[in-house]
Amino acid sequence: MYYKFDVVIVGAGGAGLMAAMQLEGASVAVLTKVYPTRSHTGAAQGGVAAALGNQEEDHWKWHMYDTVKGGDYLVDQPAAEVLTREAIDAIYELEHRGLPFNRTADGRIDQRRFGGHTRNFGEGPVRRSCYAADRTGHMLLQTMYQSSIKNQVRFFNEYLVLDLLLNNGQACGVVAMEIRTGEIHTFHAKAVMFATGGYGRAWRITSNAFACMGDGMAIAYRRGIPLEDMEMYQFHPTGIYKVGVLLSEAARGEGGKLLNNEGEYFMERYMPTLKDLAPRDIVSRCILQEVHAGRGIDGKDYVYLDLRHLGAKVIEEKLPDITDFARNYLGVEPITEPVPIQPTAHYAMGGIPTDIDARVVIDPQWTPLPGFYAAGEVACVSVHGANRLGTNSLVDLIVFGRRAGKHMAKFIKESSHAPLPPEPESYSRELVSTMFASTGGESAARIRSALQNEMDEKVFVERDEKGLQEALDTLDRLQDTYTRVQLQDKGKKFNTELVEAIELGFLLECSEATIHGALARQESRGAHYRTDYPHRDDANWLKHTLAYKGAKAHDVRLDFKDVQMVDDPVFVPKERKY
Ligand code: FUM
Repeated sequence: MYYKFDVVIVGAGGAGLMAAMQLEGASVAVLTKVYPTRSHTGAAQGGVAAALGNQEEDHWKWHMYDTVKGGDYLVDQPAAEVLTREAIDAIYELEHRGLPFNRTADGRIDQRRFGGHTRNFGEGPVRRSCYAADRTGHMLLQTMYQSSIKNQVRFFNEYLVLDLLLNNGQACGVVAMEIRTGEIHTFHAKAVMFATGGYGRAWRITSNAFACMGDGMAIAYRRGIPLEDMEMYQFHPTGIYKVGVLLSEAARGEGGKLLNNEGEYFMERYMPTLKDLAPRDIVSRCILQEVHAGRGIDGKDYVYLDLRHLGAKVIEEKLPDITDFARNYLGVEPITEPVPIQPTAHYAMGGIPTDIDARVVIDPQWTPLPGFYAAGEVACVSVHGANRLGTNSLVDLIVFGRRAGKHMAKFIKESSHAPLPPEPESYSRELVSTMFASTGGESAARIRSALQNEMDEKVFVERDEKGLQEALDTLDRLQDTYTRVQLQDKGKKFNTELVEAIELGFLLECSEATIHGALARQESRGAHYRTDYPHRDDANWLKHTLAYKGAKAHDVRLDFKDVQMVDDPVFVPKERKY
């Protein structure tokens, strides 16, 4: 089938829907490989940051300072200013659209503490995260979906996008497979937006949904668009032990503490000011240090999250979902027992490079690719730099999703549909038919499992040259094996084996860019901690990496882009202490 729209948005999570909501009067298609309300935004638990100052004094500039410092100064500062200034208005827009935030006694939006968010440029924790119990993302998604339906957005559910269509340096559509029928369709558009989320499924221990396979990043990468700062991957400190499912940082925002095998609340020793509310990169490293020192529980690779002192009322009312997760996944009762946790792969700070209007840019000179937009985790507008602060992801997707929508609304008024390239479906049809035709005997599930083991072991909270080089060698082998994946299911309808095999290709490419960036960056900054280069090196590495797909198979070419600063001494890079 051939479809024609003004705008095609790929991904129905917070960024995609926020953009769609700005496009009243335009013809808009949203393609999602799941159902909109099953998007991974729904898994965001603890809140969305904005300096409303509802319980204590706050200021967008304090929020910006925390964001820049939290990102270990790899943040593009003008983008962080946009994020933190516009956060306030974006939250009120969501409130007016009906998002059921928790309330203070006098009826305002309630706010809670989260890691790295401070008052007055680092003095101590501040209540900045607006929340709906520990299901903020779920509520956000439901609210936005209702608004999009009201706006007559056309949803294409269970469509897997396979390709981005470009012609004469302009985006003009996508090609997608309808999972229900196996049919291939072309979507012709004036503007295309990717809002496909991250690639946390490259690791075994992950908080990410099954859908988080790096689709948008890999599709853009295959079309010559670089991926920025892919080595900057966040490991959330409190995933359920051995499972990875998130136990929100809100638990520590409400007063929960990390406990080692000696009964010590150890974050007090490492970070005397922020303690358990230090940024995630730091807390995850502290957990690992406890484990290396033999103070993991029973000498193993985990510690406890202790909520017992909060009491049943706080736990049940403010943290109901994660309490159930602990009960269901571990058989642990958080009201009376500490909960086993370990760092879990959580969030990509890197992604498709964009400017503050969510336009995709393709080189260090910030050249935009007309008609192509990205926002949310798939994008790197670089407000998170080397380490994202908790609850800055939801605010990223609402602020930059909204900006994408507004910019596209203008763009489609001023432009007409660029012609499609000749044979627009040929790449996608070939991709699918090669998979069906293969007799190579290899299994996608086995390759994915090998990839996840290697990423868990060697591309984790701590890395070094030897491990990364081994991971790269393994990846080369796996990519080779991937060319021989053979499907058992030869049917066209609901062929989930085919879908998973295609998605594995996306994961392998995102992992390739990640490892190359991690090998190149010979310093430690934010979430990228190299044991062989343990210090930050601003002289050589205060810059973004851009990974381009090379000419030969498995080749990656790296380029670099300056970090953007604002002219204000408060934001000059300095040593990061909490
Ligand atoms: O811990 C959490 O609730 C996660 C929030 C986030 O990643 O922003």
